[in-house]
Amino acid sequence: MKVDGTHYRTIWLTADDPSTVEIIDQRQLPHRFVVEPLRSVEDTFTAIKDMLVRGAGLIGATAGYGMYLAALQADESRLLEEMVRAGAYLKSARPTARNLGWAVDRMLAAVVELEAPATIRETSLATAAAIADEDAEFCRLIGEHGKTLIQDIARTKPGDPVNILTHCNAGWLAFVDYGSATAPIYAARDAGIDVHVWVDETRPWNQGSRLTCWELGKEAINHTLITDNAGGHLMQHGLVDLVIVGSDRTTRAGDVANKIGTYLKALAARDNDIPFYVALPSSTFDWQLVHGTDIEIEIRSGDEITTIAGLAKNGTIESVRLAPDSVEAANYVFDVTPSRLVNGLITERGILAAEEAAIVELFTDKITDTRSLHVTG
Ligand code: MRU
Repeated sequence: MKVDGTHYRTIWLTADDPSTVEIIDQRQLPHRFVVEPLRSVEDTFTAIKDMLVRGAGLIGATAGYGMYLAALQADESRLLEEMVRAGAYLKSARPTARNLGWAVDRMLAAVVELEAPATIRETSLATAAAIADEDAEFCRLIGEHGKTLIQDIARTKPGDPVNILTHCNAGWLAFVDYGSATAPIYAARDAGIDVHVWVDETRPWNQGSRLTCWELGKEAINHTLITDNAGGHLMQHGLVDLVIVGSDRTTRAGDVANKIGTYLKALAARDNDIPFYVALPSSTFDWQLVHGTDIEIEIRSGDEITTIAGLAKNGTIESVRLAPDSVEAANYVFDVTPSRLVNGLITERGILAAEEAAIVELFTDKITDTRSLHVTG
């Protein structure tokens, strides 16, 4: 997507130095646009854990390039062994986004039968680049499929904008390009449809107010920032036509882990008869899991709740304390929306019901461990 007229992806190889990967430090947005180099698997681990990069798709793409950096760093006599160790290390950076483990496993599968170090390194780079390219292309396709939902609503209210509510940031900053939840919005805008987006601020890390608002602003999409608690009120007053959110991990039965607070939006949407869709590339499906309650939910430091960072009047980014010094804070960062509250999943292959039979039918070729399948319905 464009930043002040220049096209950016969220991760790329340095043009004249193939041993360095570059990313945008998302902790500094929207106040500063800072590009950071990653030169080692340790840099990559820190970038994922400390959320310089975040969002399921981008975490996966970053892990892919991290495995390539591991291949460059490793002692040639134990290259594969060291890549396996790097994979386990990277997987431990954050637990919930499925794309992280998926990308590491894909990188290892690509090299496991190879012997020559030069071939392992070349294949690692080609596979990391393929993961990134595929992520961008899948998000573009999600946009094309999801656009039809917005078009259908636009036809019912000529002259009025389609009001879409989104939670967190499932935009291009959470992927390599386009985003998942935002891709249909960009595609609808490009098709001449008048769209307006309600952006949940998404406490405590504020992915909505800091990142989604920044992204939509750069793309000149009409949007309004709201508090996380405002969505139900807007829905009761007919001000939301459609909810589209992303996902960090979706079970093969269609239960959706996404940023904390998503479940409450799904409940409010169901109570108000508003369609609730989840946009995700197939790399976010966890084919081994059926029940969303089995998804590991990340718990981050309580400091993310008791303090807040922002731009001070003197132009520096400062953190200030919100809660009493001694307070105990529990920072659960994802929740699970059961499939029964999801009207449909928007994927690169089309829109489908959030049901095991439909998911398995559309993605049979992606499900490697067929022994674990037990299709219901
Ligand atoms: O904690 P984050 O920022 O890595 O969480 C990811 C998210 O931004 C959301 O949950 C998003 O809706 C899905 S990720 C594509």
